[in-house]
Amino acid sequence: MNKYYVTTPIYYPSGKFHIGNSYPTVLADFLKKYKTLQGYDTFMLTGNDEHGQKIEDTAKGLNMSPKEYVDIQADNAKKLWAKMNINYDKFMRTTDEYHIKAVQQIFERFLKQGDIYKGEYEGWYCKPCESYFTETQLVDGKCPDCNRDVIKMKEEAYFFNMKKYADRLLKYYEEHPDFIVPEYRKQEMINNFIKPGLEDLCVTRTSFDWGIKVTSDPKHVIYVWLDALTNYITALGYYSSDDSLLKKYWPADVHLVGKDIARFHLIYWPIFLMALDLPLPKQIFVHNWFVMKDGKMSKSKGNVIYPEQLIDRYGLDATKYFLLREMPVSQDGMFSPESFVERYNYELCNDLSNLLNRTVSMVNKYFDGNVPEYVGTPNEVDSDLEKCSEDVINKFTKLVDEFEIANSIQEIWNFVSRTNKYIDETSPWILAKNEEDKEKLQSCMYHLVANLREIAILINPFMTETSENILRQLGFSNQITWDSLKEYKDLKNIKVIEKGEPMFMRLNAEEEIQYIKDLMKR
Ligand code: ME8
Ligand code: MG
Repeated sequence: MNKYYVTTPIYYPSGKFHIGNSYPTVLADFLKKYKTLQGYDTFMLTGNDEHGQKIEDTAKGLNMSPKEYVDIQADNAKKLWAKMNINYDKFMRTTDEYHIKAVQQIFERFLKQGDIYKGEYEGWYCKPCESYFTETQLVDGKCPDCNRDVIKMKEEAYFFNMKKYADRLLKYYEEHPDFIVPEYRKQEMINNFIKPGLEDLCVTRTSFDWGIKVTSDPKHVIYVWLDALTNYITALGYYSSDDSLLKKYWPADVHLVGKDIARFHLIYWPIFLMALDLPLPKQIFVHNWFVMKDGKMSKSKGNVIYPEQLIDRYGLDATKYFLLREMPVSQDGMFSPESFVERYNYELCNDLSNLLNRTVSMVNKYFDGNVPEYVGTPNEVDSDLEKCSEDVINKFTKLVDEFEIANSIQEIWNFVSRTNKYIDETSPWILAKNEEDKEKLQSCMYHLVANLREIAILINPFMTETSENILRQLGFSNQITWDSLKEYKDLKNIKVIEKGEPMFMRLNAEEEIQYIKDLMKR
């Protein structure tokens, strides 16, 4: 059986998830469900990244131990993912003992191999913040966090010899043109970091405690990124007594990462894997960010939307639909109350929900709810419609495989529109008046039902409830598979429900836009 391993980044536990940082998980879950439907043996990893100075500080501020703090945050994350029907297979926590042990062994191995060496870290140090900054991070020569004076300081630290692997990495990029999606992210790495000369990476800190200690030199704590990146393999049992998952699922099929963490995943992570003599992930997909009209989402700006808020009022499917539909590949996605309500009213309510209602009521009216069997393509437009029904599957599949998710969903909605147009073109209410048009009317009803069934299967990975609702109203069992798309012309003995139930009700646009604007101010 083909396997599919997809990962989200592990999150810094920093309070509530907003729609922006919930996006990677929604995306990963979509891919996981899509591949599962296609018959793959899938594994989805998500979780939290629980070490580091920031977490230590936050916990202190809340009068908690770091561990107490990250425990609460992990529970909250799991609750949200449950509410969002996210089917992850494992929730990673970097404070788990098996991960700590594995990271320590990886570090010692790098030391032994000579990939990690002891050196001196030199930088601008802010005493009150206990933090180092590089020259360029300083703001007017002062600490970028507290604006106080900084002093030049040196301390003993360990470094990873990145330089040694730079050429090998470039060669790997060249020989694996699909490794990084989209392509321009690779060019950014080459131009901005590799070509100018890759610098060795400082992989230990002594300024704080909340992290994994170096076994052979415990006053040093392992840099959070070395700790975090390895989660993709420790989660599968790397350096543990049972690495059967690793054998089965590694290399990952895809790591999903936001643009802000591209460098860590496109440069350091592949190099760490080379040093461990492990195969590299097949693909790394770098996505953009969700932003608001006034820029980045932030509490202080009063422009944050939390997924629960949308789910509680508009449902999970509308929320996921919007997130996946609105994120282009080469730009940031934009959330606005106007576009959310507009998509809801037009695409979900008018286009999809009404198509189902019209279909169910016509099948009831003309055939007592019994869907006629396939009679070929007696109407001229039927064959064009059938061609669209094949094309949409191919286009959708190709676009998803290229991570063109918004466009892939657009293709489904083009097909929804095409099907609505088909009703106008065939005018079943006129066909119903003439006995000699009976076959055309049968064909029309059949094609509407077959199209809706196909739509239900295509949207199943991200609008699961709506998908099941459509299938139920049409009289299909919801035991669907991707393969059953092939049965387009073979549907038999289908009876639709007696009275259609609207799936999405038209919103009062003005009221709901205001409602969402008020949410943002909370
Ligand atoms: O970076 N839109 O964690 P993190 C889309 N712990 N994606 C967004 C977003 C937005 N508005 N805001 C954040 C970390 N993200 C590390 C990862 S992996 C070994 C370690 C994305 O909690 C962001 O791009 O800061 C990143 O991919 C993810 O949320 C987690 O971010
Ligand atoms: Mg971040």
